[in-house]
Amino acid sequence: MNIKLCYFCKKFCVFSKRNFSVQSMVKYQRVVLGIETSCDETGAAVVDENRKIHGEALFSQKEIHLRTGGIIPSVARQLHKEKIDHVVTKAVLSSGISLHDISAIATTVKPGLALCLEVGLSYSLNLVKHFKKPLIPIHHMEAHALTIRLLHQLEFPFLVLLISGGHCILSVVNGVTDFLLLGQSLDESPGEALDKVARRLSLSKQAECSSMSGGESIEYLAQFGDKKFTKQNPPMAQYQDCNFSFSGLRSHYERLIEMQENKEGIQKGEMLSCAADIASSFQHSVAHHLAKRTQRAILFCKKEGLLPPLKTSLAVPGLHTRYGLKVVSGGVGSNQYIRQVLQNLTDDMNMSLLCPPPQLCTDNGVMIAWNGVERLCAGAGVLKNAHNIRYEPRALFGTDISERVQKSTIKLPPLKNIK
Ligand code: KG4
Ligand code: ZN
Repeated sequence: MNIKLCYFCKKFCVFSKRNFSVQSMVKYQRVVLGIETSCDETGAAVVDENRKIHGEALFSQKEIHLRTGGIIPSVARQLHKEKIDHVVTKAVLSSGISLHDISAIATTVKPGLALCLEVGLSYSLNLVKHFKKPLIPIHHMEAHALTIRLLHQLEFPFLVLLISGGHCILSVVNGVTDFLLLGQSLDESPGEALDKVARRLSLSKQAECSSMSGGESIEYLAQFGDKKFTKQNPPMAQYQDCNFSFSGLRSHYERLIEMQENKEGIQKGEMLSCAADIASSFQHSVAHHLAKRTQRAILFCKKEGLLPPLKTSLAVPGLHTRYGLKVVSGGVGSNQYIRQVLQNLTDDMNMSLLCPPPQLCTDNGVMIAWNGVERLCAGAGVLKNAHNIRYEPRALFGTDISERVQKSTIKLPPLKNIK
């Protein structure tokens, strides 16, 4: 495309209105540019209040970090810096909507890697200043939780399980800015545990897995393994709450890998003959733990009347009323085995399950733009003056009612479909 002189800023600028077709200048009531840089994806998208994704672009750093065995924040920052302009420009140009015509810019400001959040925020601050647009600061995990409303006309409240590389959260979503925290991981996230076991198994050295994240490679290999290879007691079974723990489970599998290496007489870094069995068994243990804690969350919500029976078209027609909805999101939520186990759980408990497609479960610009649209429509957190906004690497999520869950001492009956 030839870059033309921008009518608005009187400079040569790719966002010039003259670079967009006549139709593109149709005024959308509310249309938001979203920018994501909290971890290892540089994402941008333009989304409107009618749930239309006009344009999107994503650059994943995954393969680069796989080579170094994990995310090095300074490397991630450098890659965000190199790619952000290209990613935002691609999303805006493909949307056909000039930045002069958008309503606001939404950007992830918490939680995440400080060096990475800083790149997205300072880029966004330049844009809002130049184009005189409001800024909508976004909580990354709230954006994961609300993504499902971009895809379905889903009313509040609903129960969400957020499983990603940094978090594990069970929450009742009551509104755009109203979240009840039922439980969360007390140590590491399921994504972190999956990534560590995948690294310990050296899965990225396998040609098929060379461009996959740790979680994806575990899922890939697990198809060829036996989930009953080893049995591990589910974590935290003695605690009647909805919190999670993955570090003990992960260490158990790391010890098992070492034992098997000794048994097979191979060095760390070489491929174990039982790698697929370990992947399958570990994936099953993670899924099982997620399901058992979620079972208590569902029972708690039913007991407290937090999730009314479904009235929308999402209620599956059948003999029973479906009680509420459970949504799974976050990178680990794209795992088909984990989804199936959670589907079995919701079937057992007479609930419906919804999951965004895998590409909207992992980090992306669309979810940030959509959260911006939601906030714009709700009139919540839209800043005309963004001078004082700061990024926050650590951030709380919702109102913590996990003690209330614990005090309700809910016992878990066995489930038909989950062993
Ligand atoms: O949500 P996300 O893209 O980034 C964070 O906000 O953390 O999640 C990334 C995590 C990584 O740990 C990655 O291994 C995991 O999601 N993941 C998966 C799958 N795809 C990505 N875990 C299990 N199965 C998958 N298919
Ligand atoms: Zn995420």
